[in-house]
Amino acid sequence: MDKLNVGIIGTGWCGGIRAEASAKNGLVDQLHICEIREDRLKEVADLTNPTSATLDYKDLLKNDDIHAIMISTTPESTHYPIAKETLEAGKHLLLEKPISRTLTEADELINLAEKNKVQFTIGYSQRFRSKYAYVREKFIDGTLGEPVSVLISRNITTQLSKRITGRTRLSPAAMEATHDLDYALWCLAPRKPVKVYSQQVEKVLIKNSNSADCQFMIVTLDDGTVVTVGAGWVLPPSYPNYSSTKMEFIGSKGAIILDDTHNDVTVMTGDRGIEYPMSSMPGEPVGHVNAGPMAEETNNFIDAILFNKPVIVKPKEARVVMELYQAADLSAERGEPINLPINIDPLNEGQN
Ligand SMILES: NC(=O)c1ccc[n+]([C@@H]2O[C@H](COP(=O)([O-])OP(=O)(O)OC[C@H]3O[C@@H](n4cnc5c(N)ncnc54)[C@H](O)[C@@H]3O)[C@@H](O)[C@H]2O)c1
Repeated sequence: MDKLNVGIIGTGWCGGIRAEASAKNGLVDQLHICEIREDRLKEVADLTNPTSATLDYKDLLKNDDIHAIMISTTPESTHYPIAKETLEAGKHLLLEKPISRTLTEADELINLAEKNKVQFTIGYSQRFRSKYAYVREKFIDGTLGEPVSVLISRNITTQLSKRITGRTRLSPAAMEATHDLDYALWCLAPRKPVKVYSQQVEKVLIKNSNSADCQFMIVTLDDGTVVTVGAGWVLPPSYPNYSSTKMEFIGSKGAIILDDTHNDVTVMTGDRGIEYPMSSMPGEPVGHVNAGPMAEETNNFIDAILFNKPVIVKPKEARVVMELYQAADLSAERGEPINLPINIDPLNEGQN
């Protein structure tokens, strides 16, 4: 096989980026897209000129020409059932986070992918930012020495948190900090989390939705390294989906301070005020190039299948992250530290 036929299920914001990246990728022969909103299906079809466009994802799973599927649907409760059918159909799969709602479902998907010998990865796109990958390299090549502490604080706007909390009851840890927990654990692998203490603040969003404004977590790893991650989603409305992150990585031999606030390009217009373009988490196409990591991640998945390379985000790593944010949610609820592994799905009940 020297070219790949791919299908995208759910071509909203992220699926749209993945469809555009796939359409531009010379290693992709056929692109098939599926979206239940007819107007959005047409919009993405006009942008990408796909081989087929359908309202029913089962058309893609039945199509034997399609080798790989990317699932970018919302609400997040759609991930597990569609992923299960995709893996059962023997297709390679890139699934947006979260991998599923419960650890049991995650295990089932991981086992199914192994059984059917297909590539399976989860969309933790921040690993595909060059600045982020650089920090990991500096831990691996010894520049920073032994890790001592990591501090990551991310804030996004209410435009995005209202969208997220309008469709799911998952916490800031599960929906936002999940990227930074994954990223910190990736940098510090093979160290594993053994304890987490977490607190949430409920002052702003609680008035209109059953959601916290932010969540902070202190995570202890098995070698004693401490990782602190904060995720807030009450910044005032700004450039659509603006994300601002500050990070500190402290090691025994050195440190890296990373500014990912995206204030490097400022646009001022009379109509829209001050904006920071190219500042969302997945990024956006800019003419012939792409700003941000999601297109890079899409291309990497295509390469992994065609050239039989390991995927960058292993699904078992996504499971560790899921167990960690579930433990963080439990800690915030109980007001006490939680030891890992938790071995149960404490927050299954009533999630949607
Ligand atoms: N990696 C990142 O940086 C990042 C950023 C944002 C969101 N996400 C994740 O990506 C996923 C998608 O988020 P989004 O912001 O693009 O959401 P979105 O709501 O913009 O898009 C999801 C689309 O899926 C469609 N859909 C739902 N059920 C469908 C079905 N059965 N068949 C076909 N289409 C269906 C919806 O109509 C919608 O257009 C979420 O799981 C989210 O957690 C990842």
